[in-house]
Amino acid sequence: MRTIVSVHSFRGGTGKSNTTANVAGILAKQGRRVGVIDADIQSPGIHNLFGVAGDDVTASLNDFLWHGKPIGEIAQDVTDSQGVPLDGRIFLIPSSMQPGEITRVLREGYDAQLLTKGLRQLVDELDLDVLLIDTHPGLNEETLLSLVISNVLLIILRPDRQDYEGTGITARVAKELEVPSIYLVVNKAPSDLDPAAVTRRVEEAYGCPVAAVLPHSDDLMSLASEGVFALRYPDHPVTGIYRRIASRIDGSIDAA
Ligand SMILES: Nc1ncnc2c1ncn2[C@@H]1O[C@H](COP(=O)(O)OP(=O)(O)OP(=O)(O)O)[C@@H](O)[C@H]1O
Ligand SMILES: [Mg+2]
Repeated sequence: MRTIVSVHSFRGGTGKSNTTANVAGILAKQGRRVGVIDADIQSPGIHNLFGVAGDDVTASLNDFLWHGKPIGEIAQDVTDSQGVPLDGRIFLIPSSMQPGEITRVLREGYDAQLLTKGLRQLVDELDLDVLLIDTHPGLNEETLLSLVISNVLLIILRPDRQDYEGTGITARVAKELEVPSIYLVVNKAPSDLDPAAVTRRVEEAYGCPVAAVLPHSDDLMSLASEGVFALRYPDHPVTGIYRRIASRIDGSIDAA
């Protein structure tokens, strides 16, 4: 089995989509075949980081879930979207930005089992080394099913009491579901926070390793989700920290 990575957080806006896109970019630069799926069907967005506007999403995960379109046909090759040569490839499976499609999810829900079947199919059809799943915040049925089929879970949290509490719940559930590797990523850390001290505290609290502590970065904020930071700024200190997260996942690819 190839590596399937769920990127999750209990609360919204923690940095899931940016972390997912940056890790995808780094792994593809290193020669991996990477899939990125926007499983945040209620509030999609990761397509922006790969240079795709919502209006330009012509085939989406919704077409697979509701309209029977083969999932392999939905994947869009966005390898060249950053203007940087990559040895590997990046395939994006976006979610629809059409209001009717989004409200249908809210009204009718969808077959979460079909989604997990589609994810496995995608890995095989595109011969992926790794599939990164950008999830909707909070715990719901599709998150639980994505955890069941994942070998790696990245839980993103900000150093904030509300995030700490929610992260405890996600970590407990993931352990009960026996996700083989669970890593925490502390994001948006203010500059006065000592990364080593945060790492110790968080690892003790949740019993999971911290893959990285990312500082709040004005440079990242300025890019404003218009690209993959690590590919645009390969020498930036934040890119070095994203690489640490990618190398944890890379280790799982070789072990899988
Ligand atoms: N380390 C950081 N420093 C500064 N800004 C950041 C950092 N990480 C992410 N951001 C910014 O925070 C915002 C939210 O990031 P992102 O969209 O990746 O989070 P998310 O968890 O996917 O959100 P949602 O739950 O809404 O899907 C974006 O504007 C992004 O540019
Ligand atoms: Mg997101």
